[in-house]
Amino acid sequence: MLGRTPPMGWNSWNTFAWNINENVVRDMADLIVEKGLKDAGYEYIVIDDCWSLRERDENGKLVADPEKFPSGIKALADYVHSKGLKFGMYSCVGSRTCACYPGAFGHEYTDAQTFADWGVDYLKHDFCQRPSLANGPILYNRMSMALKATGREILFSACNWGKFETEKWIRSTGAHIYRSTFDITDNFECLSKIAMSQIDKLAYSTPGCFNDLDMLVVGMRNRGRVADGGCTDTQYATHFALWCFLQSPLMIGGNLSAMTDSDFKLLKNKELLRINQDKEARPPVVLAGGDRPIFFKHLDNGEYAIAFFNLTEGEATMYAEFFDIGITPECGHGFELRDIMTGEETGFVKDYLGTKVEPFGFKIFRGKFVK
Ligand code: GAL
Repeated sequence: MLGRTPPMGWNSWNTFAWNINENVVRDMADLIVEKGLKDAGYEYIVIDDCWSLRERDENGKLVADPEKFPSGIKALADYVHSKGLKFGMYSCVGSRTCACYPGAFGHEYTDAQTFADWGVDYLKHDFCQRPSLANGPILYNRMSMALKATGREILFSACNWGKFETEKWIRSTGAHIYRSTFDITDNFECLSKIAMSQIDKLAYSTPGCFNDLDMLVVGMRNRGRVADGGCTDTQYATHFALWCFLQSPLMIGGNLSAMTDSDFKLLKNKELLRINQDKEARPPVVLAGGDRPIFFKHLDNGEYAIAFFNLTEGEATMYAEFFDIGITPECGHGFELRDIMTGEETGFVKDYLGTKVEPFGFKIFRGKFVK
């Protein structure tokens, strides 16, 4: 089964947009390996929009722009595969992509075969320029089945920004991940809004079909296509922790050749990735919402996690009341937890867990329920 846990990788859009080319893709594939990201689980290298010529060839096939990809897509996919990685591309349900390149509408079976012939392992399918009467469920189901008909295993990434209550039907189309928000920018307020807008939809996020909060902006530092003021290191860490805790796909959007060691360290944080890749993929119980959310989550090894996110600019003292998850004082049970970032242990805590959280910061505790 594809997408049993949230897929991890790199996508070209946030940084390169229309400046994508084969050298960039090769460099990013090299860096994913060199910087230890592959070993941490990042495996898909995905080319987003703007890779093709403006028109199809005389046989109705998509043609890669020969100036951007002089060696051809197949050779590039082979290169990515030779690094032990997987290769992804982009198309769109409409007659044109969002940046006005040829879209798949009416060409689904030809395009799916082209992608399969090139060695594509992942397809992001966007939602621009479609006939208004052609609805999402039919369009995504059509491409999903065209991909399956090629016989190649291709992870299908739907991107329809939550139009028509995506979470309610997308799983039935065979999609493995789905975007249900507007595009992310390199700005803490924007990414906080994206995350919090999905809280009441997380029950639909399951193994085989995860809610995609959009590409990460970690380490972008206000460069690239989605520059919007940038974030501090604390804010990037909280962004990454939110994406991990809510079990979003983790597609790095930054330029790996411009990132710092601390960015790589964050992206490779074992404890955060372990929660992101938790096999049971249970949605959190929301103990508090707003801009100081608190979440409680069951994990697959019998442990639990409690997360505190302070999305505000002031320090916060936050409390998780165990009564709110049905634990009465009489039961005699409590938690033995540790802060996953510092390793600090709480000892036996009963009734509630309180903690101070720095401005724009987070704390996640993980551990056992004991008597
Ligand atoms: C948007 C999509 C972005 C990017 C862009 C390309 O619709 O949300 O992630 O793919 O199109 O044009």
